Amino acid sequence: MDLHGLQERALAELQACRDEAALHAWNGRYLGKSGELTLALKRIGELPPAERPAYGQKVNQIKQTLLAAAEQQERAIREAELTRSLTAEALDVTLPGRPVQRGRLHVATQVMRRIIAIFADLGFQVYRSREVEDDLTNFELLNMPPHHPARDMWDTFHTTTPGVLLRTHTSPGQIHVMRELCPEPIRVILPGMCYRYEQITTRSEIMFQQVEGLAIGTDITMTDLKGVIQAFAQRLFGEDRTVRIRSSYFPFTEPSIEVDMDCIVCGGKGCSLCKGTGWLEIMGAGMVHPVVLQHGGYDPTRYSGFAFGMGPQRITMLLYGLKDIRQFWANDLRFLEQF
Ligand code: PHE
Repeated sequence: MDLHGLQERALAELQACRDEAALHAWNGRYLGKSGELTLALKRIGELPPAERPAYGQKVNQIKQTLLAAAEQQERAIREAELTRSLTAEALDVTLPGRPVQRGRLHVATQVMRRIIAIFADLGFQVYRSREVEDDLTNFELLNMPPHHPARDMWDTFHTTTPGVLLRTHTSPGQIHVMRELCPEPIRVILPGMCYRYEQITTRSEIMFQQVEGLAIGTDITMTDLKGVIQAFAQRLFGEDRTVRIRSSYFPFTEPSIEVDMDCIVCGGKGCSLCKGTGWLEIMGAGMVHPVVLQHGGYDPTRYSGFAFGMGPQRITMLLYGLKDIRQFWANDLRFLEQF
């Protein structure tokens, strides 16, 4: 058995391997199950016992040599392949990259921030109030005892805990502010989410934001209320806007009003947006009911105040001419990216 010749031949063939496939084949030919070297080792049994140790040692030596050489050749092949691909498939670093999508604030947040900024100018602070309320604060303390028919104005989500509900409006926040700040004068707005269990249409959602306003002091009159609303409308919709008030009813205000603004499209002549009336409803409001003042800790013979509540989604729809309130929380990028 010419072991030396075998090693020389194997090394020469290895040098000739130019890719991984050739290397693989070479490996099979010499080191595989029925490779030449493997067979050479098996033949050890044909030798006289005295020659076997030296023979075995020699075969193993050759095996180590071949393994080391193969490893080196594999590395060389890989490096050559890398150099080849780097020169052949040159990378054009001057190509523009893929643009990164920029996020933005939700249109509801944008308008909410504008509203908050306007009221900040008018001296109102932001007061945050809870979304999960109790029946007492959402209704009773706002002058709506159990079974009061006015409760029908708010279709309510009740929880499985008796008396605990999702607030139907931001007005219960009035009670929290008054109880915290009494007997200080108050000038706050309360922005936040409200929930009503009602049919979803293009004009109403089960979840929507409101901005409540509350001012309490010793000389507050309806004139102050109208002035604040007028200033707000002009700052948000333009200097030439005017507002009118109609009498209305809320259990927690007396007198209660509904506020309209002259139509931003037709200026009062009548169009499809204002349904021919020339006016757009923007909020409910009124003078804080004496019973509510009392529940807040204020003596109604000394203090008075006004409150208002508006839906910024409706306001946003007016600002941008939107037709469908359901788009606000539909999570549709085609809608959101317009703002
Ligand atoms: N809470 C009333 C509503 O949700 C709005 C309102 C607020 C009316 C404050 C008067 C005073 O409809």
